[in-house]
Amino acid sequence: MGRRSIQAMRGLITGASSGIGRELTRQLAAGGAQLLVTARRAEPLDSLVEASQDMPGRVFAMAGDVTDPDHRARLSDAVRQRWGAFDLLVNNAGVGAVGPFAEADPERLREVFELNFFAAVELIRGTLPLLRVGRTPVIVNIGSVLGHRAVPRKSEYCASKFALHGFSDSLRAELAPEGIGVLLVSPSTTRTEFFDRLLEGADGVAASSSRVASAGSVARHTIRAIRRGRDEIILTPGGKLLVWLDRLCPTLANRLIARYAP
Ligand SMILES: NC(=O)c1ccc[n+]([C@@H]2O[C@H](COP(=O)([O-])OP(=O)(O)OC[C@H]3O[C@@H](n4cnc5c(N)ncnc54)[C@H](OP(=O)(O)O)[C@@H]3O)[C@@H](O)[C@H]2O)c1
Repeated sequence: MGRRSIQAMRGLITGASSGIGRELTRQLAAGGAQLLVTARRAEPLDSLVEASQDMPGRVFAMAGDVTDPDHRARLSDAVRQRWGAFDLLVNNAGVGAVGPFAEADPERLREVFELNFFAAVELIRGTLPLLRVGRTPVIVNIGSVLGHRAVPRKSEYCASKFALHGFSDSLRAELAPEGIGVLLVSPSTTRTEFFDRLLEGADGVAASSSRVASAGSVARHTIRAIRRGRDEIILTPGGKLLVWLDRLCPTLANRLIARYAP
């Protein structure tokens, strides 16, 4: 896939009220993109809209829950009415869950998959006709290093990100003849609200390590990958090490994870 320009790119970003989605919105708007953003909380979205008045790009907001099919349909309609086509879909909204699988309510698995997988995939289905007529269009799915290598006590979250990873690989091959890119971004631990909002049983889990990435840095790497037409990025040296160790020597990876994973 060739290089893309952010200037005048028309994009839809989910989960823009905090963390990685918010930083992506700020940086893309600073680069001249026009963006429709969504999340459930309206206030932080409104502040992004306001801040964009002084930026080369523009931000428009539509608050709502992306697991709701009606909200997804409203987003597609808004894109169609505003631009008639668009160039960038970022599936970023996501939630984590921590705790032993055996003790978890089955609802936890459903909730994680509804947001991290089904909402993303169905938003792609609903907006694909508009991406097809966009300029060098690209779908960006925010996955996780845990979508390449799973760890204990995060079975539902890892499974949802593995599903998004597999889906992204398949869709990339399927859409390549049409010139639509699919970029899978796999961050490691990033300092955001993510750890305050984990589904149940998350005692003692926090992004407090000094090796934690910032949302700004994840956004910068993601935008560079969009520009360069990359298919996949794993963001940190630790993340790359884990993924390559797992690919080259899964038995050793299993042993180390069983022994050292929190
Ligand atoms: N932080 C990390 O360590 C880390 C590591 C790897 C991957 N990731 C991935 O990065 C992505 C962004 O996470 P983050 O770290 O930036 O966390 P975050 O700050 O908690 O952001 C999550 C975003 O998703 C939105 N959201 C949650 N449920 C939603 C729903 N039902 N409908 C619409 N929007 C919803 C939230 O907004 P509202 O609450 O306002 O709806 C928020 O804007 C996620 O996919 C996550 O899995 C994060």
